[in-house]
Amino acid sequence: MQTPDTTRLAALAQHYGTPLWTYDAAVIRERIAALRQFDTIRFAQKACSNVHILQLMREQGVKVDAVSRGEILRALAAGYDASGEPSGIVFTADLIDRPTLELVVEHHIPVNAGSIDMLHQLGAASPGHRVWLRINPGFGHGHSNKTNTGGEHSKHGIWHSDLPAALAVIRQHGLQLVGLHMHIGSGVDYSHLQEVCGAMVDLVRLVQKAGHDLHAISAGGGLSIPYRDGDASVDTNHYFGLWDAARQQAAAVIGHPLALEIEPGRYLVAESGNLLAEVRATKDVGRNHFVLVDAGFNELMRPSMYGSYHHISVVPHDGVPQAEKDCVVAGPLCESGDVFTQGDGGVVLPRPLPAARVGDLLVFHDTGAYGASMSSNYNTRPLIAEVLVDGDSDRLIRRRQTVEELLALELQ
Ligand code: LLP
Repeated sequence: MQTPDTTRLAALAQHYGTPLWTYDAAVIRERIAALRQFDTIRFAQKACSNVHILQLMREQGVKVDAVSRGEILRALAAGYDASGEPSGIVFTADLIDRPTLELVVEHHIPVNAGSIDMLHQLGAASPGHRVWLRINPGFGHGHSNKTNTGGEHSKHGIWHSDLPAALAVIRQHGLQLVGLHMHIGSGVDYSHLQEVCGAMVDLVRLVQKAGHDLHAISAGGGLSIPYRDGDASVDTNHYFGLWDAARQQAAAVIGHPLALEIEPGRYLVAESGNLLAEVRATKDVGRNHFVLVDAGFNELMRPSMYGSYHHISVVPHDGVPQAEKDCVVAGPLCESGDVFTQGDGGVVLPRPLPAARVGDLLVFHDTGAYGASMSSNYNTRPLIAEVLVDGDSDRLIRRRQTVEELLALELQ
């Protein structure tokens, strides 16, 4: 968890208005540095897909994952291409729609396939195309059921026992197998790690037995970050150590060195970001004291979607600190679930906070991942601005959308 410089953030809120997303480039660079042991760091841009964040990643030598046509176009706009190995862009999905298929073929973007149908469609359109196989090893783990991406309840990946069938499709279309990939969930607890690494080595054995070669393995993403005081930070050396051992074993099986990729989203950007919102009303409703801010779940969806915790700092507008009080922090949307202090299943959880008053600023911490990228226009609220802080400078990296822009899609 980062301790943000609230004086600086208050100045940004004053200058750019609220609600506002902010990111600190220095934090992103630090997180990248902590993963340099991996041969390739591939940013899962779904966590934060602003083109300027992607440019920052590219400048740092980080590659990118894309999961839609839009994300591919973002990567291209940030200057990535698919030449060479490892490719700057890899497209990962469980299905490929027709426009995306055209785009990956046009730009020769390797496809990380999560279904055999995808392999057939790609092979028919582009024989010889580079592919990864995303495998569901039969188990998974996540901070919520909604972020568990392995096991038989998950739609993700090719089921492990279908690997031989997938390899047969690769042969049939002359596709080039680059590597095997696994991503079993987000916010993993690391007790699963050894099991995941073991499963990868077993899969590589199957590939070798089937007479195929491969050049890389990917550990996927899923590294957690400390959202609460006291949450442990991931030990990246330990994480790398286990995967490196798996890579060595897999290389011995295949008979030559293998590259090791990692594909985090949250770890690289979550702690760089804050959401700034202004308190516009307070009220007592029975026993609950509500603090109502100008940001809603259409901006930060994680508490409503997963019951996720985001630490909140209060910055008093007049600099006068207030005593703590149990507060329910909520947004402006016409929906009861628009509450930032809630648990799984939507239970409202009052939280002890300095009693915020109208005009105070609330800082929601660690919102750099799955914040802006999960925003919506619900209640016809335009997307809000994003600002990138780098040392002493700051710049707007996305201007606020206007209602006129939204209406223009309908009024033509
Ligand atoms: N690779 C693949 C194939 C993925 O599906 C994901 C996340 C990642 C990498 C990156 O996972 P990360 O390192 O960020 O945990 N909206 C949820 C997280 C959903 C993640 C979906 N896939 C949240 O706000 O927690």
